[in-house]
Amino acid sequence: MKFAYQNSTKIFFGQGQIEAIATAIPADSRVLVVYGGGSIKKNGVYDQVVTSLAQHQWQEFSGVEPNPTKETLDKAVEIVKSDRIDFILAVGGGSVIDGCKYIAAASHYAGDGWDILVGKHTVTSATPLGAILTLPATGSESNSGAVITKAETQDKLPFLSPFVQPMFAVMDPDVMKSLPERQLVNGLVDAWVHVCEQYLTFNHGHMVQDGYAEVLLRNLKQLADQYPQRDSDEWRANLMWTANQALNGLIGSGVPHDWATHMIGHELTALWHVDHARSLAIIQPSLLRNQLDNKRAKLEKLGTEVFRLPQTGDLAERTIDAMEALYNNLGVSTKLTEYQGEKTAAVDKVIEQLQKHGMVALGETQAITIEQSKAILQDAIA
Ligand code: NZQ
Ligand code: ZN
Repeated sequence: MKFAYQNSTKIFFGQGQIEAIATAIPADSRVLVVYGGGSIKKNGVYDQVVTSLAQHQWQEFSGVEPNPTKETLDKAVEIVKSDRIDFILAVGGGSVIDGCKYIAAASHYAGDGWDILVGKHTVTSATPLGAILTLPATGSESNSGAVITKAETQDKLPFLSPFVQPMFAVMDPDVMKSLPERQLVNGLVDAWVHVCEQYLTFNHGHMVQDGYAEVLLRNLKQLADQYPQRDSDEWRANLMWTANQALNGLIGSGVPHDWATHMIGHELTALWHVDHARSLAIIQPSLLRNQLDNKRAKLEKLGTEVFRLPQTGDLAERTIDAMEALYNNLGVSTKLTEYQGEKTAAVDKVIEQLQKHGMVALGETQAITIEQSKAILQDAIA
């Protein structure tokens, strides 16, 4: 176990915390407030931002779409450059926050921002940013990752940089009251899979990371079980904080990571606009069955510690069944139906994209080769 761990994002958690931005953003900043399709104008979040920024000089950029595109974000990059913006405030879910990370990094670079995603440019500085989270799911509000799409070529790629770690994140669970059911469920599923990507690998005996991951999974299972009672302050706060902890770097420190479900899932989103969380629910059960022998020990541990399943010879198999049932009970499908045309053509299309993106040896031991991805997709695509 060897790692460096720092999470520098200051968290303002709880009801009414949006007003904290009044002092969290340096008073002399020229602020760009960035948001998505306008949900914040209907649920009162925008009004709270306006009130809290009364003493600041600010302007806004809207229209960041779910699965944010470079094409849209580049317009904001131009504004940051031309108007000498020196603070970016993201107000939204993972898409807006990721989009702001791209804007922050690309605005400190003279070339095409996409170079960051393809590894042609390494980020060495960025415009400072903060976030007001409106959808608990990705953990983007206090991590250094972002996933950006190039619509033109249907590429959806991640980048990581400590320079785009938000300075602060406001997490007021009240903002979740306006979330459509679909997004609420997506958040729960995404957070669940984030923990799995960092936990369901092989036995390493790192007790803190494993133990805390199990706590988070038990929370998410309980919140899923209590889904009919979701209209409560407690339920919302617990989901928001659990989803944050699932991907803030802590449980991933010093342990092997998988992320194959995410990398294959991103291709489904880029090709057929499948919601991010739903792409994961489609891929993960098939992937776990494909990798059963490599992951048996941790699947058994998850089955025991989270689902409290009895110790039988097929415990790992039944753990995957229990995870699939958890998704299905939330109304989330575990088979892809959104593709157009023949199934074999759909499998080939995803494989082609994975090859193009160099995703040819995925997972904690690089065991998921193109052959394995193909078998996984044949099982996952209806
Ligand atoms: O556009 P607006 O109006 O904001 O509406 C959004 C959007 O339509 C809506 N919404 C958000 N908060 C709301 C609300 N509607 C009503 N009330 C509210 N309070 O929900 C829709 C989806 O929003 P989006 O931000 O796209 O969802 P999510 O937070 O799930 O983010 C998904 C994106 O994050 C990336 C995904 O790939 C995807 O692009 N991820 C980022 C990660 C990271 N940075 O660490 C890790 C994740 O694995 C993930 O890949
Ligand atoms: Zn995710």
